[in-house]
Order: sequence, then C-alpha cells, then structure tokens
Amino acid sequence: MSLLTRINETKAFLQAKGISNPEFGLILGSGLGELAEEVENAIIIDYADIPNWGKSTVVGHAGKLVYGELSGRKVLALQGRFHFYEGNALEVVTFPVRVMKALGCQGLVVTNAAGGIGYGPGTLMAITDHINMTGNNPLIGENLEEFGPRFPDMSDAYTTSYRQIANKVAQELGIKLEGGVYIGVTGPTYETPAEIRAFKTLGADAVGMSTVPEVIVAAHSGMKVLGISAITNFAAGFQSELNHEEVVEVTQHIKENFKGLIKAILVEL
Ligand code: HPA
Repeated sequence: MSLLTRINETKAFLQAKGISNPEFGLILGSGLGELAEEVENAIIIDYADIPNWGKSTVVGHAGKLVYGELSGRKVLALQGRFHFYEGNALEVVTFPVRVMKALGCQGLVVTNAAGGIGYGPGTLMAITDHINMTGNNPLIGENLEEFGPRFPDMSDAYTTSYRQIANKVAQELGIKLEGGVYIGVTGPTYETPAEIRAFKTLGADAVGMSTVPEVIVAAHSGMKVLGISAITNFAAGFQSELNHEEVVEVTQHIKENFKGLIKAILVEL
C-alpha cells in the first residue's frame, strides 16, 4: 500500500472515531506526556489500535493518541513518539505528522527532552533552528506532491511568529524560556564528549534523538512549528554520566512550568 493510501486509511479510521478538524498537533516527549491528561472531552486511542501506526517502546512514553480541547483549541496530542533508534523507518517515525496534516492541523507543537550544550538541567528552550546530524532524511523517496514540494525550504521551519508568541507568553508567566539550536542525532547511544565538543563548534545548544524528522515532514507540508526542548542534563563531557532515569526524573521537575507554558501558548497561536 502506498504511503498516501496508508495516510488516508488512518485518517478515515480516526475520523470514524470522532476526530474532526484538529487545529494543532502536539508531540509530547520523554516524561512530558502528562499534558495530554488535561485534554477535555477527550477521545483516547491506544497506538496499538491505530492502523499503520508505529509502536512506542521507550520508558516514559505512554503510547496513546489523545484528541480533544486544550486551552479551548482542538488538539491531537501524542503521548509518546516513534524514534529511529527503535528500528522504525523514518516514514513510520513521521507518519503521525502526515496524519495530523491530513486531518487539518495547521500547526505542530513538538517537545522533547534534550541534553544541554551550554544550558543546564531544568532549562526550557524554544528551538530556533536545527542541525540534522542523523545522516538521513524522512523525505527521501517518492515525493508526496499533495503535501509539498520535492525540495522544501527549511529557512523558517521553526516558525518565527510562533516563537515570538512563546517568548511573550513565557515572559508574562514569569517562566524563563531560552532559545537555541537543536542538533538531532539517531541515538540510542548518548554522545561522546568529543562529539559534544564538535556539536558546540557547529553552533548547537541542545542535542537529542528525535524532533528533526518530524519537523522536516511538518515543514514540507507547510505546517507551522513550535519546538520546545526540556533540557534534562548537561551533554556528555560536561557532567559525570548520563542515563535515561535522570532524563525522565528531571522532566518531572520541569513539567509544571512546561505544561503551564504550552497551555498558555495554545491560547495565542
Ligand atoms: N543526548 C541525546 N539525547 C538526549 C540527551 C542527551 O544528552 N538528554 C536527553 N535526550
């Protein structure tokens, strides 16, 4: 079955479940899925029940799609995403973004846990731009003309106007929101100290194992994007050791600010 046919099949499945005209897609990263619990009049669907959908295998990722209202906006929230390092093809990793677009989402709010290159644990960072260090691209292969062009412009992939709103809202709430460049790697290894020194030289402020493929696919189809990284650790070489338990634990300290910020931003987007 072609990618387009699968997108349309999944779209029809979700519409039959009552999901109509979502305005925003929300991808909630490691430890950040709780926000979906605040969605009102929610329709909740297990990933396992959705045709053509991937499987989420990582601790801290629930594996549920939650549709409903958040801050008065219709959202389609993903509690848990698919990663390349889980063995998923990039087509699978980015499939939910395709379906969000097909269902009518104009914007995507994408979040992640990331290692800080300069920024320390507990920092919230609006992504200003990314560096694709995965050595891959989800748009390789036949282009879906219905979604966007063969050679998409990435100049404003992280939509400036969305980021301006995020900064304004953060200031009003008294939440510190930094800005910076996210460098996306495949994982699953954390980086070596030498890699982090190299990434710093390249201009990266945060490093993580997600987001880049999803944002490429969103930008391809003209979706506006807000990316927020929760910095959970100093990247390799700047702290003694790295582990996923710490990543999830730090998100638990940031999550109240994180949830408050995203909800307030949604009102204004
Ligand atoms: N590196 C890559 N991904 C991450 C990190 C990190 O240090 N922390 C959280 N996700």
